Amino acid sequence: MSFRVVLLFLVLAVFLLVGFLHVDLRLLMPLFKDKAQEPPVTNIMFLKTHKTASSTILNILYRFSESHNLSTALPEGSRVHLGYPWLFMTQYVEGLKQDRRLQHHFNIMCNHLRFNFPEVQKVMPSDTFYFSILRNPVFQLESSFIYYKSYAPAFQRAKSLDDFLADPGRYYKANVSLNNVYAKNNMWFDFGFDNNAPADEDYVRKCLAEVEQRFHLVLIADYFDESMVLLRRRLRWQLDDIVYFKLNVRSQSTVSRLTPESQERAQRWCALDWQLYQHFNRTFWAQLHAELRPHQLTEELEQLRARQRELTALCLQDPESKNSTHVVDRNLRPYQSGEAKILGYNLRPGLDTTTLGFCQRMAMPELQHMAHLYSLQFPNKTPKAISIRKK
Ligand SMILES: *[C@@H]1O[C@H](CO)[C@@H](O)[C@H](O)[C@H]1NC(C)=O
Ligand SMILES: *[C@@H]1O[C@H](CO)[C@@H](O)[C@H](O)[C@H]1NC(C)=O
Ligand SMILES: *[C@@H]1O[C@H](CO)[C@@H](O)[C@H](O)[C@H]1NC(C)=O
Ligand SMILES: *[C@@H]1O[C@H](CO)[C@@H](O)[C@H](O)[C@H]1NC(C)=O
Repeated sequence: MSFRVVLLFLVLAVFLLVGFLHVDLRLLMPLFKDKAQEPPVTNIMFLKTHKTASSTILNILYRFSESHNLSTALPEGSRVHLGYPWLFMTQYVEGLKQDRRLQHHFNIMCNHLRFNFPEVQKVMPSDTFYFSILRNPVFQLESSFIYYKSYAPAFQRAKSLDDFLADPGRYYKANVSLNNVYAKNNMWFDFGFDNNAPADEDYVRKCLAEVEQRFHLVLIADYFDESMVLLRRRLRWQLDDIVYFKLNVRSQSTVSRLTPESQERAQRWCALDWQLYQHFNRTFWAQLHAELRPHQLTEELEQLRARQRELTALCLQDPESKNSTHVVDRNLRPYQSGEAKILGYNLRPGLDTTTLGFCQRMAMPELQHMAHLYSLQFPNKTPKAISIRKK
């Protein structure tokens, strides 16, 4: 018998054995590669979508950037976004207007922008890990309505979201203002697509394939802790890197309940977002199950929540977030918008310097945090002036 035939026999035998014994192939994986041995991922692009718990992720990335001495692509000058709602261009990044040859690359990019891969690629290293987050479009729209109530023309005249959804055509004119992007398929828009396009099958399939191709991971805000568990594994980070205090959260008094009828209308109104969400909700769970066995997932969720309780007890005066007027430290008061009452935290008094620094960064709202990183990275530039008052 020739060597090839023997080899073929052996391979067949192994396959049969694996099949018969129901051996889980995943159990054999550690023999081939030990992921824990590899260094943590430090080149990261996060597409920050709107009203999707993305401010909490921004805080995680800012903290990681500072603690690991990484560089972050921050908005230029007094800007607070990377050009949103315009498609991203490199010139929106601090330091790049002058650098025409674009020799400067960053480790982390995570501020609001409208995704534009060719431009993003110019300033991020080739091994960058791309990820984003989506939220059930019904709740995303509800949040957007309250937050951008006075900002998006489409929302201004509607008494309530139920009212708006009963007859959106009455309030929404696609081309009246770019500020209307918050009122229809806003997540679809953030990924760089046309939020007013009809949801036909081929177009949707083409766009979903593009997102699949560009992004290594799409998280789901409705399963935030599961998302953090999966993210930590993919980035090979420590537990403390992804522990968080919820940021940019509204007071329950400004969260409205939609009627079942409105929920269905919201799905139809944001049909592109709905398909985006359905697709990535499926792939999210498939990836989570491929990565962790159920008992491992339970364990890692419990670890995350236990550490969160520890840090809450260490840092916060009261685990419940407070109305902004009750937040003593100005630097921890969140920006207020529309009809949303955005909550913040008070730290426990008497913390030692190291703990205080850590706790402040955990609880710091995104505008102040951005200004803080900006001053660290560009000590010679005028610091960003942050206004937290309602527009
Ligand atoms: C970051 O830089 C500081 C000061 O140079 C240094 O002490 C610290 O060890 C560095 N941290 C990392 C993770 O490289
Ligand atoms: C909005 O403007 C674009 C480009 O100017 C045009 O193609 C599109 O048909 C317009 N949409 C509506 C709903 O008027
Ligand atoms: C998202 O996926 C989960 C798990 O499969 C499922 O239970 C849930 O209903 C999905 N959400 C929506 C809005 O389809
Ligand atoms: C915070 O504001 C909401 C809405 O105005 C109000 O209902 C609530 O009582 C306030 N909470 C505190 C602790 O003042």
